[in-house]
Amino acid sequence: MSLTGAGRIAGIMGWPVSQSVSPRLHGFWLEELGIDGALVPLAVKPEDFSTVLRGIMQAGFKGSSVTLPHKEAAFALCHDCDLAARAAGAVNLLIFHTNGRIEGRNTDATGLAQSLREKFGPDCVRGKAVVLLGAGGASRAAVVALHDLGAGEIRILNRTRSRADQLVAVLAAQVTPKLIVATDWMQAATGAALVIHTTSAGMKGAPALDLDLSVLPTDSAVCDIVYNPLETPLLKRAREAGLRTVDGLGMLMHQGVPAFEAFFGVTPKVTPALRQYLEEGLRAR
Ligand code: ATR
Repeated sequence: MSLTGAGRIAGIMGWPVSQSVSPRLHGFWLEELGIDGALVPLAVKPEDFSTVLRGIMQAGFKGSSVTLPHKEAAFALCHDCDLAARAAGAVNLLIFHTNGRIEGRNTDATGLAQSLREKFGPDCVRGKAVVLLGAGGASRAAVVALHDLGAGEIRILNRTRSRADQLVAVLAAQVTPKLIVATDWMQAATGAALVIHTTSAGMKGAPALDLDLSVLPTDSAVCDIVYNPLETPLLKRAREAGLRTVDGLGMLMHQGVPAFEAFFGVTPKVTPALRQYLEEGLRAR
């Protein structure tokens, strides 16, 4: 690491923060590009969030990445926000401007869109139907990603239907794809080009969603935004069914690009070497 007193400093705020991959992600790029700077993990209790935020602004930080449970609190403190942040009511990137203004962005949406573009091409879902499993915060970022990719229709399938209705009510006027609340998997999956899984089912030992993937068109794809494990139970079944798959690591790497750019002033590259380095880090956990 190359760091002098003039180095550019940014943070990653979370509680806990030790599980965050961001220091490893940014550390790889800082090293690769030989930048005088650092991304510092900051373990911040929820009740201390605004105090620490003011402190790091005063200390000259360029900004901070934000992870759980602070994404909504961060959104509330921003002066300006992008569409994805407003849609999700949450930000994962804070940029501190020299005039004291705080800009908030939600780069999960751009990260997911870029990951899908990279894997399947820029027109992979243009004008097509996509199934969105889940209706929480992560699902909202996925809706904005699909808007960016020009999807024709998003069929939202959620365990609690009222939450899917709520998501449609909030986002329908802000995005171009037609938002539909699906009533069952069979209806949602028929003719779909892509399935994006954004629920927490299958995490922390909970059982994964039990979906019959054979009803999907054979040329459709399945994407999971989870990156640990890299091959989730859903992706494993999709692969075994001969469908194309995208794991959550692509989204993770690409969501970091705008943050790095804002903090350190250089656009970093997402490369196979970066993926390998992050996979090694995940395996060592
Ligand atoms: P996040 O911000 O990560 O999206 P969240 O807002 O808590 O987290 O949303 C979690 C999503 O996973 C919701 O869509 C939730 O469904 P409900 O709205 O019905 O709660 C979904 N989810 C969590 N556990 C699930 C399970 N066991 N089966 C199906 N869906 C589940």
